[in-house]
Amino acid sequence: MFKSAMLRVLSCLICLLLKACVAEYVSAIGDPRMRRDGLRVAMEGWNFCNEVGDEAPGMGSPRAADCFDLHCQQGTYKPPSLSLSLFLSTYGHGFCFLHAEKGFPTRYNMTHLVTEKDNKLGVGDCFDGVPLTALRDVDLYAVAKELYLGGKCQVEDDPRPWQFWMIMLKNGNLDTAAVLCPENGKKAAPFPPEPRFPCFGPGCMNQPLVFHNYTTLLEPAAGRKGPPTMRGRFFGTYDLDADLCGGLPGKNKNISYYSVTWEKEVGRGSWVFHHYLRTSEKYPWLMLYLRSDATTGLSGGYHYPTRGMSKIIPQSPDFMVRVTLEVKQGGGPKSQFYLMDMGGCWKNDGRPCDGDVTSDVTRYSEMIINPETTAWCAPDNLGVCPPYHTLPDGTRIHRNDTARFPYAAYHVYCSPGNGQHLEEPYNLCDAYSNPQPQEILQILPHPAWGAYGYPTKQGEGWVGDPRTWVLNVGGLSQALYFYQDPGTAPARRQWTSLDVGTEIYVSDVGEVAEWTVSDFDVIVPKQKAV
Ligand SMILES: *[C@@H]1O[C@H](CO)[C@@H](O)[C@H](O)[C@H]1NC(C)=O
Ligand SMILES: *[C@@H]1O[C@H](CO)[C@@H](O)[C@H](O)[C@H]1NC(C)=O
Ligand SMILES: *[C@@H]1O[C@H](CO)[C@@H](O)[C@H](O)[C@H]1NC(C)=O
Ligand SMILES: *[C@@H]1O[C@H](CO)[C@@H](O)[C@H](O)[C@H]1NC(C)=O
Repeated sequence: MFKSAMLRVLSCLICLLLKACVAEYVSAIGDPRMRRDGLRVAMEGWNFCNEVGDEAPGMGSPRAADCFDLHCQQGTYKPPSLSLSLFLSTYGHGFCFLHAEKGFPTRYNMTHLVTEKDNKLGVGDCFDGVPLTALRDVDLYAVAKELYLGGKCQVEDDPRPWQFWMIMLKNGNLDTAAVLCPENGKKAAPFPPEPRFPCFGPGCMNQPLVFHNYTTLLEPAAGRKGPPTMRGRFFGTYDLDADLCGGLPGKNKNISYYSVTWEKEVGRGSWVFHHYLRTSEKYPWLMLYLRSDATTGLSGGYHYPTRGMSKIIPQSPDFMVRVTLEVKQGGGPKSQFYLMDMGGCWKNDGRPCDGDVTSDVTRYSEMIINPETTAWCAPDNLGVCPPYHTLPDGTRIHRNDTARFPYAAYHVYCSPGNGQHLEEPYNLCDAYSNPQPQEILQILPHPAWGAYGYPTKQGEGWVGDPRTWVLNVGGLSQALYFYQDPGTAPARRQWTSLDVGTEIYVSDVGEVAEWTVSDFDVIVPKQKAV
């Protein structure tokens, strides 16, 4: 009697503990901590205002994917008993791994889901479901191609399917005479070149050459036991006339270059994404990020339907991001390395975006961890500070409160170009680098962010200091200032893109940045997981 009561109490306790520890949080992304062997990764090329503009010759539309399933190959091992066969048919993949561990011969079957023909599709080429309007418009064609590739890579999941990690590559050149980019979402007129907009001449806004090594299996080195390694890669250059005969990375340090290699041991650990980015005289402003984008709807800075990894859209203040980052080379003094870059979209009256580029506003916030990046926000430069800073307890400190405002925590703040009630003095965001108006808040390591797990000192997480971060991105992004029209209900701050990477912002000489990202996850409370 006593014993069974004890057992009941005990089992109740265990239940409660399990609920408390296990059931409270779930991952918002399709591949929590990048552990899934069957990888889903894609790449996209953006021009200055996040469109295509012109396809690079022979490359097709700048969208490509590398997605595959991995199975234990049938028939390589004959189980000695029926129960073992049943076990294997359930846990076959794990067994494939165990089998390899023991040094038995084993084979994996890697089935790629996206062909080279798919990846080379360019404007005018037909594919299943391509809208007629897209066939003659390079910008719309890329959108349709992304959805098509997403369809090939899609993984069914709860509460909705997901498609891929997105490698985003952007060329910062703007040809002010070409009128390819709108001004705050409205049709622009040509204007004379300005130093803040680099361009070597006509064609400077081109898309890159893209080369692809499909993921393959590599057996462990001779004499080593253990599972095989999977490795694949996208790489290339913006210099369309570059002589690549010597192979890349080019010995010629004067050409732009990018590479993302992904690698993982079968059944073990996380994928490691190894990034490399080099600017050049002709391409002094380049961006390379790894993004977790929305799986449906719009993503940050993109006014078209998108595909991605965030099957649940994280919303402030309730989410955390975990990521391991190792910066190997910083990219020079102009490299705005983003430990965390968030992109979302809402209107100035707080309503969600609906695709109307004149009233939608992209909201970005980034923590720049390059210690060479300084605070421009200062008591004598209030126009680039947000109007107020909010402490974790909710207290607001106005930027004119020189004794208390943490100026050193802010690199620069810029206001949306369509804000009607901006507080003086203000500094408007660049009107051309986004399909619609934008608002940007760039912060720096500072004790003000310590409560959210962010770096508090310059140099933390930088070259020589690889770290695994667990960041309260939800809490921080709730506390940050974003503009809204007076008297309007606060926007739901939803972040359709979360990414890590660098923006080498108009380098004076060719600069190199190199870093790895692994173990990425976004965690949300279970009751908010919709
Ligand atoms: C590999 O997997 C694919 C898809 O599951 C299957 O069609 C094919 O027969 C498999 N190949 C081998 C050699 O097992
Ligand atoms: C990777 O792709 C490039 C360009 O297509 C090719 O030259 C190279 O041989 C490939 N490397 C491997 C290891 O397959
Ligand atoms: C790189 O460019 C500089 C200046 O344009 C030139 O002096 C140098 O010879 C070039 N180096 C190579 C390897 O092409
Ligand atoms: C600081 O700004 C607030 C809000 O705009 C204003 O009410 C206050 O008078 C200002 N104080 C000083 C000293 O300028």
